[in-house]
Amino acid sequence: MDTQKIMLEGAMYMETELLLAALAEPQEHVVGQWRFVEGRYHDVPIVVAVTSIGMTNAAAATALGIERFQPTAVISQGTAGGHDPALQACDIVLGKRSFDASSYRSAQEDKVDWRHMELMGSYAYDAATQSFVPQAVYYLGDERLLAAAHLAAKDYRRGRVVDGCIASCNTWNRQKERLQYLHDQFGSSCEDMEVNSAAQICQQYGIPFLGIRILSNTEFRAEEFQPESAQVCQQFVLAVAEQYGKMSNRD
Ligand code: 5AD
Repeated sequence: MDTQKIMLEGAMYMETELLLAALAEPQEHVVGQWRFVEGRYHDVPIVVAVTSIGMTNAAAATALGIERFQPTAVISQGTAGGHDPALQACDIVLGKRSFDASSYRSAQEDKVDWRHMELMGSYAYDAATQSFVPQAVYYLGDERLLAAAHLAAKDYRRGRVVDGCIASCNTWNRQKERLQYLHDQFGSSCEDMEVNSAAQICQQYGIPFLGIRILSNTEFRAEEFQPESAQVCQQFVLAVAEQYGKMSNRD
């Protein structure tokens, strides 16, 4: 009997093609406007979700994928830009935490200083009160998925794998001062456009979640977007899925 099924999400085709190619017995589905492919990888049941880019698409595809395929764990994976100056292209950030970088209240002031901002977090469903209420700013990555990622990290040769914090919103920041500020003020390691909205939906459904992001670009080293990093990330994520499957079989 299948004890687990992992939903692996990626935004762009280049961020999912290796996952799709790795599936045995692939079965195609379209739910709403999103493509899902079910299959197996090393005997681990997998559903790959091709979410498209951005927070809204990620949230919608995550909710639809959970309803239709009932995964027991979800990973949002793909490329990201660097916030931590110590990181470089092909370093991988495991999302111990993530936050919505677009959800902030500015200071009330006549002269603008964009740094005067306070994170607000999101309105997320709370089962106890059956209502949408303001939640904590940071969503946490699942410990067991993190443990599986740490096992996979032992064989990763393309860079470092670090536990970190992922800042998500529909923004591509290229201003070093802003990137450094977000890192210093809110602890972010990198930025993407999907992780935190998928994290919120998974928390609402009570499903273990982890964001796994590879740096494809970083202003701190003047590294432009490197498409190959998307493939390197997928290879790592497949290794994580395999480790997670082994851990679950041992339980
Ligand atoms: N800023 C924001 N998103 C980025 N992505 C890669 N690099 C960055 C960056 N510097 C990812 C997003 C989105 C797509 C544009 O690439 O997650 O899916």
